[in-house]
Amino acid sequence: MRIRRFTPVQKTFHLLLIATFLTQSVTGMARMYSTTLFGQVLGAPFGGYENCLAVHKVVGLAMIVLFACHVIYALFLVLVGKLEKGDSLIPALRDFKEFFSHLRWMLGGRLPEFERWAYWEKFDYWAVFWGMVLLGRTGIMLYNPVETARFMDGSELNIALWMHRLEAVLAMGYIFLVHFGVVVLRKHSFPMDQAMWGGNADYEMMKLEKPEWIARLRAGGRLDGLLVKESAPVLTAFSYLVGLGGVSLGVYLIIGGLINARLVPW
Ligand code: HEM
Repeated sequence: MRIRRFTPVQKTFHLLLIATFLTQSVTGMARMYSTTLFGQVLGAPFGGYENCLAVHKVVGLAMIVLFACHVIYALFLVLVGKLEKGDSLIPALRDFKEFFSHLRWMLGGRLPEFERWAYWEKFDYWAVFWGMVLLGRTGIMLYNPVETARFMDGSELNIALWMHRLEAVLAMGYIFLVHFGVVVLRKHSFPMDQAMWGGNADYEMMKLEKPEWIARLRAGGRLDGLLVKESAPVLTAFSYLVGLGGVSLGVYLIIGGLINARLVPW
C-alpha cells in the first residue's frame, strides 16, 4: 500500500527541474573545463564550446520562466486555501529541534515524529529558491556582457561570473552528493526513491517516519482517499532508467570536476 504525496503538476515541475539542472550542469562544466579533455568530452554532444554557451543561455532562461511559474503556482495554492498548517514548507522552530533529534536518533536515540515535510525536504525546496535567484541574476548579467557593461563597471561582471561559478559548484555538490545520496542510498529508498516518479510513498514507511502527517490525515477523514496501490512496473523501470542515469551523470561530473579542478583557468 502507498500514500499519495505529489500531484502530477508537482511531478512535472520536478522532472523539468531535473532536465534543466542537468543540462546546465553539463554545459556549464563543459565551458568551465574547456581547456581539459574532460570539458571537451562534456561539450562534444552539443557540438562544442560555442554551442554549449548557446544551449546554456536558452535553458537558463527556461529555468527562470519555470521558476516564475512555480512561484505563481505555489502562491495560488496558498491563496485558494488548499494547504493546511502541516502542509507548509515554511521553516519553523520544530525543524531545528527535529534536526538535532534526528542526529541523536542516528546515535541511538528516538526517531523524531515528522509532519508531512521533514527539515531536509524543506531545505531542498528552499535551496532551489536562493540558487535560482543567485544563478538567474548573475546569469542574466553574463547573458550579454557588452550590453550589461553599459550599466555597470566591467569588474562587476568578473564578480558575477565568480558568484555564478561558486553557486553552481555549491548547487551541483549539494544535489549530486547530498540530495542524490538521500533519494538513492537510504535503506527504504534504495535503489531509487519512488515519491517523485509515481507521486506516492510507502505507507508503512510514512507511518513510521511521518506519523504526525498520517494522524492529521486520519483525523481529517482524508487518509483513505490518499491510499493507492503499487505503481505500474513500467513506471518503476522508467524511474530506474532516468533517475539512476541522472545520478550516474552527477557522480561522473563530481569525480571529473575534482580530478581536473587544478587545470581550470581561474
Ligand atoms: C543549475 C543551474 C546552473 C548551473 C549549474 C550553471 C553552471 C554554470 C557554470 C559552471 C558556468 C561557468 C562557465 C565558465 O566558467 O566559463 C556558467 C556560466 C554561465 N551561466 Fe550558468 N549555470 C546555471 C544556471 C544559469 C542560468 C539560470 C542562467 C541564465 C541565463 C545562466 C547563464 C550563464 C551564462 C550567461 C554564463 C557565462 C558563460 C560563459 O561565458 O562561459 N546559467 N554557468
